[in-house]
Amino acid sequence: MAEFLFITDLDNTLVGDDAAMQQLLDQLTRHRDQHGTKIVYSTGRSLTSYQQLKAEKHLVDPDALVTGVGTAIYHQGSREPNADWATLLSQNWDRERVRAIADSFEDLMPQPESEQGPFKVSYYLHPSVASNILPQLEAKLQREALAVNLIYSGSKDFDLLPANAHKGYAMTFLRNAYGFAPERTVACGDSGNDRAFFAVGSERGIIVGNAMPELLDWHSANPADHRYLAQAYYAAGVLEGLAFFGFLAS
Ligand code: GLC
Ligand code: MG
Repeated sequence: MAEFLFITDLDNTLVGDDAAMQQLLDQLTRHRDQHGTKIVYSTGRSLTSYQQLKAEKHLVDPDALVTGVGTAIYHQGSREPNADWATLLSQNWDRERVRAIADSFEDLMPQPESEQGPFKVSYYLHPSVASNILPQLEAKLQREALAVNLIYSGSKDFDLLPANAHKGYAMTFLRNAYGFAPERTVACGDSGNDRAFFAVGSERGIIVGNAMPELLDWHSANPADHRYLAQAYYAAGVLEGLAFFGFLAS
């Protein structure tokens, strides 16, 4: 079995079923040792919030960690985010203006300071008003010529990111850095911010069975052969998908 690039979201994808997670991580680390497979975690969490989850769930060290919905990339053993990625994201990004415009919408409730980042402005937004607020905000940002990525996840979290930042672009950056073909790359997720994994190219995609409606609806409207919707939940769904694509034996 040949090496592959494995990328996974954490909350409600890798994490959610402890026994299945352990089984998956054991198989992946064995594959990493034997074949040079790379393991990447890609989360909406900040670095601090990731470290709490890592300690709580005894997650193995990944080869790279992507935090803040694709806005920072940390290579194993480094405490500093990848500088090339930061330089890319800083182009055409005016955080203060973006924040001021978003702040003018009273339905957008700022998330705690710990979840804000140099390339990420985050709010809570109630699903009952989201479909009304989002187009208004988008129009306002457009009028001001601000190119921003708007990402609504889990029917509550709302992130504003630089136009060239999301989990999909971060995946492509790492895939090129490591030299994996799209066919040897697989990304797994459950919610709105994971859609970017499945929309950038032909990398293999696994949607776990417990995915949120926002992702399931998009998947049924945009079916693709390179994307698999698992029956099983959480890490068991990931194992099911890896067997389906032939990355790991079932
Ligand atoms: C994580 C982050 C939060 C973000 C959400 C969705 O929960 O902590 O800031 O909005 O993911 O991307
Ligand atoms: Mg998730």
